[in-house]
Amino acid sequence: MARLLLGVSGGIAAYKALELVRLATKAGHAVRVVQTPTAQQFVGAASFAALTGAPVLVSEFERDPARGAFPDQEPPSHDPASHLELVRNADAYLIAPATANTVAKLAHGMADNLLTSAALAAGCPVLVAPAMNHHMWEHPATQANLATLRERGVTVIDPGTGALATKHEWGVGRLAEPAELLAAVEAVVDWGPAHPRPWDGLKVLVTAGGTREPIDAVRYVGNRSSGRMGFAVADEAAALGAEVTVLAANVALPRHPRVRYRDVVTAAELRAACLEEFPACDVLVMAAAVADFRPAAPEAGKVKKAGRDAMVLELEATEDILSGLAAARRDGQTLVGFAAEHGAQAVDYGRDKLSRKGLDAVVVNDVSQPGIGFDTAENEVAILTAAGDEHVARATKAEVARAILATVDRLRGAQVTR
Ligand code: CTP
Repeated sequence: MARLLLGVSGGIAAYKALELVRLATKAGHAVRVVQTPTAQQFVGAASFAALTGAPVLVSEFERDPARGAFPDQEPPSHDPASHLELVRNADAYLIAPATANTVAKLAHGMADNLLTSAALAAGCPVLVAPAMNHHMWEHPATQANLATLRERGVTVIDPGTGALATKHEWGVGRLAEPAELLAAVEAVVDWGPAHPRPWDGLKVLVTAGGTREPIDAVRYVGNRSSGRMGFAVADEAAALGAEVTVLAANVALPRHPRVRYRDVVTAAELRAACLEEFPACDVLVMAAAVADFRPAAPEAGKVKKAGRDAMVLELEATEDILSGLAAARRDGQTLVGFAAEHGAQAVDYGRDKLSRKGLDAVVVNDVSQPGIGFDTAENEVAILTAAGDEHVARATKAEVARAILATVDRLRGAQVTR
């Protein structure tokens, strides 16, 4: 986890800074925000305060109730100078969006507001993410100012090209996307011994989504899995510091900047990717809903309905990926399977899978209950291990993911060698 100081200057892209704060806090970082007075015309301090859980400052002369401390720190007993204390505590100072005016002030060492004074006092890495109209971006003054900042070691996160805020205008100047900003911050933070994270160095492989098995060139046999549960597990593992790879089967969800994703479509593609990735992983969480059967002879073209009253689709069994991986496991690997079951015997079926597939844990959800399981934001599960069953009451998938990872932690603590 890092302490990120975010400076927001006054451009329309300030709304994207809210999403950045949401991503950063979700990834476990402690965030403080300073705004320029003009930035407040675009996004109010209350929004940033709600997302960071910390006061937002605009002026050096207002009292900081947190006394320059970040949400994970105890405030000092005295009132320090905000522009000095915030950057002293921060691991990185990101200015996003940085307007042409703020870029110019930073390049010339001006300190006329809290945002610019803090930049002048910063000993931590400073990142600047410009956002402006393309005429202002292309102006030689702006380009010279950015060159000056780069020469001084400031990381400039270049804006993207696309539609700009003014109607019908297109060009360079759009603020980089929030996930890109966070990745840039995480790339410059010193993750050394000062920031130990519980899962630093651990390699986690997660499968997510639902496989699709072609019937013909345009149709498939699929299932209702959205990938939400697997993606939540991946996000939480990344927040703990793990190196996470997700094998995503047909998932249309936002992606975490510090997670590596490989997209697959069919059970056979998922199996091939699993066979490649599994040997190096320490933890496998197999959340994907894998087809048990696939059309035996998919058509290369499109099946036409003319002349048919009915159609019989012959299905053949796919391989059980997880059982195959479990049979090839090495010492030190922890394997978690999922079981989407229907009805009263859900836990019994899950227990059977735990032993039959040779797993360390099985996460059972009873998909007969409304509002949980497939394609929903919430889940309610039982986590089965050799030590017993843990019931996780209905909660967000992020909370369920944390419970699953806590179980993995316990299993790995108990399992000196397997
Ligand atoms: N799984 C797998 N390969 C398959 C089917 C399932 O790796 N071909 C994995 C799933 O990702 C999940 C676990 O096995 O982690 C259990 O999946 P499930 O479909 O519930 O198990 P099955 O053994 O197919 O049993 P069922 O008859 O209940 O479908």
